[in-house]
Amino acid sequence: MSDVTKDDFKKVMGSFAAGVTVVTTLDAEGRAVGLTATAFSSLSMEPPLCLVCVHRNGTSHDALVASRRFAVNLLTAEQVELSNRFASRADDKFADVPHRPGDATGCALLDGALASMECEVVDVFPGGDHSIFVGRLATVSVADGRPLLYWRGGYRQLADG
Ligand SMILES: Cc1cc2nc3c(=O)[nH]c(=O)nc-3n(C[C@H](O)[C@H](O)[C@H](O)COP(=O)(O)O)c2cc1C
Repeated sequence: MSDVTKDDFKKVMGSFAAGVTVVTTLDAEGRAVGLTATAFSSLSMEPPLCLVCVHRNGTSHDALVASRRFAVNLLTAEQVELSNRFASRADDKFADVPHRPGDATGCALLDGALASMECEVVDVFPGGDHSIFVGRLATVSVADGRPLLYWRGGYRQLADG
């Protein structure tokens, strides 16, 4: 019953300015995997929850389901290259990317991120061609810097000086 085309969908959703994140988890061999995601949101303060929506066809999806843990890295305006790298199908997205395992989950925390959080997956809900992963925050880290934004098909930065 929907007249909304894929193009309509992209246009309307792309009008919502979003911060850019890299969500990381561990595959079955314990290797770091991850993807660029803007479908991230704060969810609850008590308990501390966030959510991320991940395409079911991506390689990170099944790793997230199995590992039940993830880290969210909020990117700075200087990290466009990282965003493009983690949005690609590169074999080893972490090659030459400085990172360290988080204390709580072992998921990769990217050096230079604006902020990061490690999460334990507490729920997974179906959401069309995506799954909605609800994570309970285990550790957080916040640094100085300015966010990388994505709006109407392109990377943007804050313009307020
Ligand atoms: C700016 C931007 C935002 C994106 N947001 C999401 C998202 O929220 N969820 C998602 O599943 N894919 C998103 N993608 C696409 C994934 O990053 C891309 O499909 C990636 O190759 C998936 O990696 P994987 O197959 O290793 O999991 C986004 C891509 C870009 C460039």
